[in-house]
Amino acid sequence: MASLKSLIISYITLLSLFHFEFSNAVKGGYWSPDNGLKASDIDSTLFTHLFCAFANLNLQTYQLTISPGCQTFPRTIRQKNSGVMALLSIGGGSAKSSDYNNMASQPSSRKAFIDSSISLATSNGYNGLDLDWEQQSKTEEMDHLATLLTEWRAAIKAQAPNLILTAALHFRPMANSVATFPAKAISDNLDWVNVMAYDFYAPGYGPPPYFTRPHAALNDPTGAKVSGSDGINAWIKAGVPANKLVLGVPFYGHAWTLASSNNNGIMAPATGNQNTYVPEGTPSYTQIKKFISQNGAKVVYNSSYVAYYCFSGTTWIAYDDTQAIATKVAYAKNTASLLGYFAWQINQDLNWALSTKASQTWGS
Ligand SMILES: *[C@@H]1O[C@H](CO)[C@@H](O)[C@H](O)[C@H]1NC(C)=O
Repeated sequence: MASLKSLIISYITLLSLFHFEFSNAVKGGYWSPDNGLKASDIDSTLFTHLFCAFANLNLQTYQLTISPGCQTFPRTIRQKNSGVMALLSIGGGSAKSSDYNNMASQPSSRKAFIDSSISLATSNGYNGLDLDWEQQSKTEEMDHLATLLTEWRAAIKAQAPNLILTAALHFRPMANSVATFPAKAISDNLDWVNVMAYDFYAPGYGPPPYFTRPHAALNDPTGAKVSGSDGINAWIKAGVPANKLVLGVPFYGHAWTLASSNNNGIMAPATGNQNTYVPEGTPSYTQIKKFISQNGAKVVYNSSYVAYYCFSGTTWIAYDDTQAIATKVAYAKNTASLLGYFAWQINQDLNWALSTKASQTWGS
């Protein structure tokens, strides 16, 4: 009897260990120190992992520098949620791919970068590091990325084995027709990938003619395979398992100027971007909700794309509201069995509406 009892106990212990290991979902969000929201005002109870964006590369030394906001971030967000994980995100959309490629092309600069990343993370209380090297377009960049990730993981194992290592990557493993991301090095060396499932279309991308499009649709009913779910399927097919993929959702939109206010659906002719709200034509969710209420804009949710748009006059904005966020998070959890979701960026939420919807939809 005693041995049966102890067998049962060890079985239960094993199960709970197993459960702990695999219930470690990611409810992520990126925060920028320079975009209105103070770190002390973040409702960190809505997240499991928060990313401070961004550490920058010094082009002489190839070491990283961080602003005071990222230095105090881990301590600040743990005041409301002692268990939240802080990750230091490196690079970002405005960093140049060629700078990261130069760093990653030489052993000495890779070492300078890696050592400084680990030392910045550990000295400021971070739980992990996140690489946001974006806009790769050449095969050599992909080769250098693979080498960087391999050496980075080895250095973490040796110097700070508890550090998480992630990267925010393109929505699909093909950057273009020549450059494909190194799926094996990614899968072997990263804890997970933040899949940037947004910015598929914007009025400023490429030459005219312009047409309105959802910029972050979960599905692509046109069959062109430009969508979040198509990207996730392609990553899995390339060899990165679903439990290492985290789906990105945008807390901002892309704004077009319609050619005619009477033609205002998806694929309506447009003249370019609409930059009344922000110069780049990418209004935050907060700005979009204000635009809707101030102008009585019409709001449409398209459940085939899983996308919202709103328009008033000749302003047309593609964005995600709560139903799109909930549908994407439910897809991530239940349909695709992904590790989790993340938001870019939490500064842009309005009264935590999207963050709350996402967290509640995922559940615990
Ligand atoms: C979504 O948009 C497409 C293109 O405009 C349209 O054909 C389709 O009927 C819409 N679906 C829904 C559910 O509104």
